[in-house]
Amino acid sequence: MVCIRQATIDDLLAMQACNLMCLPENYQMKYYLYHMLSWPQLLFVAEDYGGRIVGYVLAKMEEDPSEPCHGHITSLAVLRSHRKLGLATKLMSAAQAAMDQVFGAEYVSLHVRRSNRAAFNLYTSTLGYQIHDIEAKYYADGEDAFDMRKPLRQPQPKKHHHHHHHHGPGGCCSHDAPAAAAGSSPQSSNSPDKKANT
Ligand SMILES: CC(C)(COP(=O)(O)OP(=O)(O)OC[C@H]1O[C@@H](n2cnc3c(N)ncnc32)[C@H](O)[C@@H]1OP(=O)(O)O)[C@@H](O)C(=O)NCCC(=O)NCCS
Repeated sequence: MVCIRQATIDDLLAMQACNLMCLPENYQMKYYLYHMLSWPQLLFVAEDYGGRIVGYVLAKMEEDPSEPCHGHITSLAVLRSHRKLGLATKLMSAAQAAMDQVFGAEYVSLHVRRSNRAAFNLYTSTLGYQIHDIEAKYYADGEDAFDMRKPLRQPQPKKHHHHHHHHGPGGCCSHDAPAAAAGSSPQSSNSPDKKANT
């Protein structure tokens, strides 16, 4: 049996190890920590009966105040030995639900390599993402990315805008959450998300 649960700080090394085994886009530990400190509700792991981390999703909220409140999947992977069991679907669903419920995200975005058929099928057929744009040569090796999106909720009519969605511990966009906005400077200073794997 494998369980899906929210990640803790003690899972970050195992998540990084899983990422190194599964993907060419890798990150320094400070980037995992940055996600955990900023949006702990959006990090999930798949843990097997022996306590081994066999999959993870690393996600964040985008903080550009000129865009609608939305989440972004930074990285997703499941160990080869545990694929095709529905784990990635469950990890993604958990992160998407938290983006919606905790942060009031209107949609979720991600990048995927044009050639990554497994992930593309997961996002389109299983999870309902659509291609929003194509980013030419997005990846370090020159491969194009599909910029994909999935709506999380119907747009609220202005009059009934539910401000309470933005007032929890997880305020979304920077105009709603000054504390969260502080997190965007290390992010932009070393722009770790450019060439992100998803
Ligand atoms: C992509 C990845 C996360 C999928 O993980 P997973 O746990 O095996 O996915 P799921 O079992 O939830 O699969 C859900 C759907 O994805 C699609 N899918 C998954 N693996 C697939 C494969 N090898 N070929 C084609 N479609 C595939 C199918 O549509 C599948 O639905 P089905 O089982 O009803 O056919 C995993 O293959 C992986 O870690 N790959 C390497 C890292 C990576 O590419 N990450 C994504 C970067 S954007």
